Amino acid sequence: MTPSLFAATDLKTLRREAADCRACPLWKDATQTVFGEGPSHTPLMLVGEQPGDKEDLAGKPFVGPAGQMLDRALDEAGIDRKKVYVTNAVKHFKFVPRGKIRLHQKPNTAEIKACRPWYERERAVVKPVLVVAMGATAAQSVFGKITPINKNRGHLIDLHDGAQAIVTVHPSYLLRLPDKDARAREYQRFIEDLKIAGSHLRKIARAA
Ligand code: URA
Repeated sequence: MTPSLFAATDLKTLRREAADCRACPLWKDATQTVFGEGPSHTPLMLVGEQPGDKEDLAGKPFVGPAGQMLDRALDEAGIDRKKVYVTNAVKHFKFVPRGKIRLHQKPNTAEIKACRPWYERERAVVKPVLVVAMGATAAQSVFGKITPINKNRGHLIDLHDGAQAIVTVHPSYLLRLPDKDARAREYQRFIEDLKIAGSHLRKIARAA
C-alpha cells in the first residue's frame, strides 16, 4: 500500500492501511508499522524520528528510554501526554544488526519522503493547531525540507495551512550527551521549548 493513494478518513482506518505500507524498504526488517497514538482530535501533535527497538516490538511510539525522557519533560512542562497525539516522521524501525543488538540507523531523505503522507494524513484527521518537531528528521518531515534545529528552535513557525510548529531537539539526543552538565542544561532547554508549546495552547484556549 502506498500512502498517497487514499484519502484521509479516521485514525483507525489510517492505522490499518499503514500496517501494510510498502512505500520504502524499511518494512522488510521491522517487526511492524508503529503508527501515531493519542486522541483523534487534539491541539498538540508531537513528532519524533522513527520507532526505536522497544517501540518496534511494542507497536507504540515513544515507550522506550527516549519515551521515558519525553514523559518526564512533558510532565515538567505541564503537558499531559494523554492529551497529545504522538507520532514519528518514519513509521518503521531502521537498524543494523550487531550481534544480539539492533543498532538504530538514521532514516534517509527518500525514507522520510516516502513516509510523509502518513504524517500528513494524521494531521488532516487530528487537526493540531501546534506541531512540535523533535529533532532533524521530524523537522524535515514537518517542513518538507531540511530545517536545522539550532537556527529554528524555540519559537513558533507558521505552517502553510494556518497551524504552527515548534522545532526542538530529540529526547534521544539528550540521552546521548556524555557530559552531565551539558545534559542537564540541554534538558532544561528542551523543557523550555515544550513550555512555549504549552503556553501557546493555553493562550489559544483562552481566546476561543
Ligand atoms: N525515538 C523516536 O523518534 N520515536 C520513538 O517512538 C522512539 C524513539
